[in-house]
Amino acid sequence: MNARQLKDIFVNFFVSKGHVEIPSASLIPENDSTTLFISAGMHPLVPYLLGQPHALGKRLTNIQKCVRTGDIDVVGDNCHHTFFEMLGNWSLGDYFKKEMIPWSYELLTKHLHYDPKQIHITCFAGDDDAPKDEESAELWKSVGISEDRIYFLPKKDNWWGPAGNTGPCGPDSEMFIDTHPELEPIKLTSGDNHGRIVEIGNDVFMQYNKTIDGKYELLSQKNVDTGYGVERNLAIYLGYDDDYLTEIWQPIINKIEEISEKKYSENLVPMRIIADHIRAAVFIIADGVEPSNKEAGYVLHRLIRRAIRQGKILGLENNFTSIIAKAVLDNQNNYAGVYPELNLNKNKIIETLDAEETKFRRTLNKGLNEIIKLIDSQKSVSGKQAFDLYQSFGFPVEMIEEELKKNGLSLDLAEFNRLKGEHQKQSQTLSAGKFKSGLADQSEIITKYHTATHLLHAALRKVLGNHVKQSGSNITSERLRFDFTHPEKVTDTQLIEVATIVNKQITASLPVTVESMKFIEAQKIGALAFFGAKYPEIVTVYTIGTSGRYFSKEVCTGPHVENTGILGKFEIIKEESAGSGKRRIYAILK
Ligand code: ALA
Repeated sequence: MNARQLKDIFVNFFVSKGHVEIPSASLIPENDSTTLFISAGMHPLVPYLLGQPHALGKRLTNIQKCVRTGDIDVVGDNCHHTFFEMLGNWSLGDYFKKEMIPWSYELLTKHLHYDPKQIHITCFAGDDDAPKDEESAELWKSVGISEDRIYFLPKKDNWWGPAGNTGPCGPDSEMFIDTHPELEPIKLTSGDNHGRIVEIGNDVFMQYNKTIDGKYELLSQKNVDTGYGVERNLAIYLGYDDDYLTEIWQPIINKIEEISEKKYSENLVPMRIIADHIRAAVFIIADGVEPSNKEAGYVLHRLIRRAIRQGKILGLENNFTSIIAKAVLDNQNNYAGVYPELNLNKNKIIETLDAEETKFRRTLNKGLNEIIKLIDSQKSVSGKQAFDLYQSFGFPVEMIEEELKKNGLSLDLAEFNRLKGEHQKQSQTLSAGKFKSGLADQSEIITKYHTATHLLHAALRKVLGNHVKQSGSNITSERLRFDFTHPEKVTDTQLIEVATIVNKQITASLPVTVESMKFIEAQKIGALAFFGAKYPEIVTVYTIGTSGRYFSKEVCTGPHVENTGILGKFEIIKEESAGSGKRRIYAILK
């Protein structure tokens, strides 16, 4: 089996159970400024888990691109990845445990051919917030899992979400596979999912909403949210204890072996880190992020630099990241043939990596000169000085040690590690702050901004011309941000004209209506769609105005207000460049 086949088995299974396949959302959250990346398949679906109707129905399935940065420092082991693809299916207030558990069992035993004796299950043990999940355990027993392989664990193991500080969450039931069923049977121990018995999937029964004061309220609907990591599942299915041995990674690893003239088996950690980080960087750049010193751009910058430093360990002294990126981009079955943003941005991906690498190599040379200066002048480098070099030049500590060693000196590694630990703690606290509140904040104001964005898009095309195309959008409860193609600065007069047109549509109290149709039909009737994005066969089209004389028509999943009259006053607060050939507008509703 290869990854493509695994994905098809999963998606086809859920389509056969009445689910509609939806495309992966961008890695960059559209309506959530509090998280940097989409980290689970449910993440773009939060409004619908909270009760907003989804235009494609109550049963959805997909393969979602995800990035989890929390584990970046453990990448290099056999199973952690920053970027990964998650298989998922959702019930948005439709079926619940008694359908989901038999389906999970059917998928695992009939389609993935696991022996029921290999399957271990965990269920929520219950606490003050929610009762023990006896129902799930009974259902697992009734389909054929023996009671001695069903365990009840507390919230820290068997509760998933919210993805931010507040929002949909619930008890979950996790599925594990004994990778060595031929050995003496063993029990699963809490939290030990990287040993012999490994987790492959998770059924979350999202029935609660965690509020800002930490309470768990029942949601208006009972949802199911599931997740299966593609990389991990393929490796387990094939009986590998190293994810990087599968065909997802092998072409990338082979390329690293080829250019470094070294063997993977003797260089596991650096090769895994390079493969992981460059693959993540390719996808992040394809979704419009550029390396910078803040937020998603900073994560990208770190990934690229960490990969280059690992390259140094392998002796790679010339630019190599774009060569590895090509090995990622060449994977037609899983990537280039599936995610159109990869081919569309191919040159940009290659150029961005090359430019960043050239810049970093210059910085590293400067750092090296600094070390040589320190060694010459004071005949030593303190832990603090090494940490400063590490911090400001991203200079790997191994390289500092190596330079010192050449001169018969050694480094106070304990002091260096102490400072590094302190710094890590600080940045974890900062990024935890980033995840506060956010996800559940899909309030009315967000919906209003969504509709205002469509008005702005249409107004810009009226004023500037039909070359204007949306190239990005980000909404918070305070403002909208809209990126679009346009070769030059939008003048003040043009901005006033745009805002006037938008406000006219608001005061005209235009109806906003939604209809489902084939994507080809939507294009025929002139509905705007994100250029190059992948759409399902059936899409929803939002029309603002009456269908005979509409102001805007866009392919979009919503949510939107029902009438523009409630939007308030629209005001553009800033216009700026968003990269070459692109402009960015910030606007508010008052
Ligand atoms: N949202 C759940 C997870 O990420 C399915 O594990």
